[in-house]
This record gives sequence, structure tokens and C-alpha cells, in this order.
Amino acid sequence: MKMKRDIKPAVGKLGILTPGMGAVATTFAAGVLAVNNGIGRPIGSLTQMGTIRLGKRTEKRVPMIKDFVPLTNLKDLVFGGWDIFSDNMYEAAVHAGVLQKDLLDRIRKDLEGIKPMSAVFDPEYVKRLNGTYIKKGNTKMDLAEQLREDIQKFKKANNLDRAVMVWCGSTEAYIESSDVHESLAQFEKGLTENNPAIAPSMIYAYAALKENVPYANGAPNLTVDIPAIQELARKNRIPISGKDFKTGQTLMKTILAPGLKARLLGLSGWFSTNILGNRDGEVLDDPMSFKSKEVSKLGVLEYILQPKVYPDLYDNFYHKVRINYYPPRGDNKEGWDNIDIFGWLDYPMQIKVDFLCRDSILAAPIVLDVALFMDLAKRSGMSGIQEWLSFYYKSPMVAKELYPEHDLFIQHTKLKNTLRYLMGEDLITHLGLEYYDDLFV
Ligand SMILES: NC(=O)c1ccc[n+]([C@@H]2O[C@H](COP(=O)([O-])OP(=O)(O)OC[C@H]3O[C@@H](n4cnc5c(N)ncnc54)[C@H](O)[C@@H]3O)[C@@H](O)[C@H]2O)c1
Repeated sequence: MKMKRDIKPAVGKLGILTPGMGAVATTFAAGVLAVNNGIGRPIGSLTQMGTIRLGKRTEKRVPMIKDFVPLTNLKDLVFGGWDIFSDNMYEAAVHAGVLQKDLLDRIRKDLEGIKPMSAVFDPEYVKRLNGTYIKKGNTKMDLAEQLREDIQKFKKANNLDRAVMVWCGSTEAYIESSDVHESLAQFEKGLTENNPAIAPSMIYAYAALKENVPYANGAPNLTVDIPAIQELARKNRIPISGKDFKTGQTLMKTILAPGLKARLLGLSGWFSTNILGNRDGEVLDDPMSFKSKEVSKLGVLEYILQPKVYPDLYDNFYHKVRINYYPPRGDNKEGWDNIDIFGWLDYPMQIKVDFLCRDSILAAPIVLDVALFMDLAKRSGMSGIQEWLSFYYKSPMVAKELYPEHDLFIQHTKLKNTLRYLMGEDLITHLGLEYYDDLFV
């Protein structure tokens, strides 16, 4: 038996701060309030509904994850955040149109009490939105200071010891890491000099890490991928994770592709297209925001199928991803996949997937799990990139020398084994030596 790690208990309340209070953030917060009021169930959440097997199968120990690791109780969550529009969470949730109004009306008072703080925003990074509820400051360092004050005030007003930040804001324009991102010293200099390569999301992440608050990146933004922020996370011993919540079409891809590979079925092409009509779709209609999303979506197959290891099956497959803004659909996206595969003697076959999904319904439990696990990581003394949370992300962050693991099932095993490790339980590889001993008797 391994040693149980020293984990600080989850006493008191936990603040969940979301830059961005749009469809995902409101569906998440309203969902938790609905669960707490007994008018909804947290479907899709591993922390609330998942179990974990411990020890040998014969031991029959399968507790709920929330009873196994010390997680914050849903009743102890407090919500806050920022937006470029001043709508409170009730108004924003009605606007987002994901949850039905009669459900929102039953928790209206609580939702109305969650009012955004004014945002740090730069229209160069999100071209399609014109908000008015925006902070002013002479330098980006001034803006970072204002965010730090916001965090301090929020914690004080709600009597919180702990908080986590989960980016639920819009997708920013695609940028690559450059000189100003290379080290913390260069980054801080860039903040005082208003360097244009510092995106608003990076200012939020910087403020969070300075305030001892873990940061999770729900969008494909570069934010915590840069060496400067990773240096700060390590220095202050704070967990970071990302990026881009794995919902909808990419979730399907990371479920199907490992299956095709396991059965050694070849792939000649995978065409994914979808229509969505929410504000996220509007933002992604801008080519530079779409580019961030496209890069995060395209990597998936390459890593799962390993064309270099299986050139006969996966060399040169054609992979295309399209997102089309189509207002009538709102948050109810429709994603089509056409998958051209080949089998025995190269005979071609096709798979068609038509996923009528609800984007924010799939994203909300991820926000919850990520927030609770990031807090657990912090209380357990873990810092830097939390690769064990790859399960939740389209484009998982990993250490520089590693490639990301995209296979949902490997990610799932890794997550659960991390929990077992934290609690001093044996890791489960599904390969008990006794099994083999028995086979050869
Ligand atoms: N819904 C999903 O399934 C899903 C999956 C993966 C990633 N995401 C990402 O999550 C994010 C949120 O998605 P959504 O559907 O809620 O979008 P949304 O447009 O409904 O909400 C985003 C909110 O962020 C606000 N915002 C933009 N820039 C901001 C800033 N600098 N500071 C504070 N607020 C800011 C916008 O005003 C908006 O209210 C997007 O980046 C999206 O790409 C969503």
C-alpha cells in the first residue's frame, strides 16, 4: 500500500470565479443551484456521479468519488466572475437561452445576486463583441492590479479562504508564443509597457496566480501555455490546467478514434462540420478566433492514431473541421462527422455521426469537475500543469518533452489513478499478476 498524501481538508467555502459569464458559466452556476435546491441532477459530472474501484475486484470496494477524495460540497460553492456586459447571472442565463425559463425562475433570486465585475477586454482579441462594462487602466499591469483587488474583495465579501478561476470567456484570436511570453521577468515588463502580445486572458491568469488561485483554461486561448505563466505557477506553487473543454464533436472523436485504432481499422478521411448559433458561434465566425479553435480541434486525431507508428493505416488521412455560425440553432449545436475507414483487404466503409448536442449542457459538468479537482490539487500540494485533468480538455497541456494524450479512456484511467495515488491506494492497471499465475496452473 502506498502512502496517502497530506491533503488539507475542504473546510469552508470555495469561490469559483469565471472570466466570462455567458452560456457555459451560467449553465454551470444555475445547474449547481438547481442541484442544491433539489430540482436538477448533476448528470455528466464525475465528481458528483462517478465511482472508483479500489483494490482487487474481489474486494468489492467501489465508493463514490466524492466520498473517496475530500472534495468541496456543492453547498459550499460561491460564484463570481467578470464580463464585458453588466447583466447579472439571471439575465445572462435568459439571454443564453440554454436552460428553460421556468427552471431559472425557481432560482432567480440566487442568480440575480451574482453580478459580474467589469472585465479586462481588448477588441483586438475578440473582434465580434462590443461590450461596455470594461476596466480602464494606463497599463496592462494596472489592469492586473485591478483584477487582483477584485479577487481579494470577492474573497473577503464572501468569507472565503479558497478560490479557483475557470476561463469561460470568449475564444481569443490566435497568437503564438513570442519573446514577451518567454519568462516571468519579460512578461511583467511587457505588462508595464502594454505589450500588444499580452492577451486579456493572460492578465486574468497572472492576477489569479499572484493571488494564490488555480487557473483552468476552458477556451483554446494561449494563456497558460506560455513559459512566463508556467514559471509563475511553479514559483507560487499553484495548479494550472487546460485547454478548451472537450465537449460535442471532439468528445465523439476521442471516443470513436481509439476504438478504430484498437481494432486496426484504417482511416482515409474524417470530415467534421457543425452549425451553432450562440454567442460563442458568433465569436468563432471571426477567422482569427476560429483559427484558435481549429488548431485545438485538429491535433486530436494525429495524436490518437499515431500515423508514424501505423503508416499503413493512418498515413495521409484527410482531416477537416468546419464551424458555421447559424443563429436559429442557438446553443443547440448539430455536428456531422463523415468518417471514411477501410478494413480487411482495404475494403472501404463509412461511418456517419449526427450529434444533436447541447454545447453548454455538455460543458457545465466539466466546469464543475475541473473547479473541484483544481481545488483538490491545490490542497494536495500539487502545482504547475495538471495533466491528469486531460480528460476534460480538447487540447491537453503537458510538460514540454511529452506529447499530449488524447485517448479519452487513457485519460480516464490516468485521472482515477491520480485519485488513487493521492489517497494511498494501489494504482489499477487491469493486469493483476495473480491472473497470469492462475492461467498457468
Ligand atoms: N460550450 C461548449 O461546449 C464549449 C466547449 C469548449 C470550449 N468552450 C469555450 O468556452 C467559452 C465560453 O463559451 P460560451 O458558449 O459560454 O460563450 P458565450 O459567448 O456565451 O460566453 C462568453 C462570455 O465571455 C464574455 N467575455 C468575452 N471576453 C471577455 C473578457 N475578456 N473578460 C470577461 N468576459 C469576457 C462575453 O461577453 C460572453 O458573455 C468560449 O471560449 C468557448 O469557445 C465552450
